[in-house]
Amino acid sequence: MIVAIDGPAGAGKSTVARAVAHALGFTYLDTGALYRTVALAALEKGVDPGDGRALGDLAAATAIEPSGDRVLMGARDVTERIREADVTELVSVISAHPEVRGALLRLQQKAAGSGDIVIEGRDIGTAVAPGAPVKIFLTASPVERAKRRAAQLGLPLDDATLKELTEDLVERDLADATRPSSPLTKAPDATEVDTTDMSRDAVVEAIVARARAAGAGIGR
Ligand code: DC
Repeated sequence: MIVAIDGPAGAGKSTVARAVAHALGFTYLDTGALYRTVALAALEKGVDPGDGRALGDLAAATAIEPSGDRVLMGARDVTERIREADVTELVSVISAHPEVRGALLRLQQKAAGSGDIVIEGRDIGTAVAPGAPVKIFLTASPVERAKRRAAQLGLPLDDATLKELTEDLVERDLADATRPSSPLTKAPDATEVDTTDMSRDAVVEAIVARARAAGAGIGR
């Protein structure tokens, strides 16, 4: 069974998806990490961020291996490196190219075909796994998302930091939602969960309950 979790930056997708996978005994795939790894490869190889074809070739040629909680690029563990600011700044531009999306789609669909899995991203319910029996669209207010991002990055919760983080998130949402190639959008059959006033555990429980109602764990 596939559990698809989509939503904007900072809505808590990674934390929630990981916990849902753990509770259900499923594997977990963070697809944002794949796009981030291509962005890192582009930075390091000096590929023009506007050259979709070159970036598509780069995505296809880069050995990206999501391995549990870690991400490998070739033999190198890039888990922490792909969270740094230069990669975060570039990744929306890189991920907008259809050639890049096509190359990574194959990798994601291979993972999706491998059994019980929670997949988290922007277009899982719409493009990667449109047939997933459980589709969740996680949201939260921009300020709440900025607070969570600050906590994740270990930054102070002062007004200036929150303002800057909120602006970054809103800018990235706009880029992700307005790109022509599989934009960030809620699938018509996805359940929207606004997590602004929910605890992490309540969100996880709600999704686990939906997955169980859809048959997760039956027959094991
Ligand atoms: O979830 P994240 O912040 O790590 O994602 C990084 C970027 O990758 C995000 O700006 C949009 C892009 N992305 C995407 O286009 N499609 C996905 N399925 C996952 C991420």
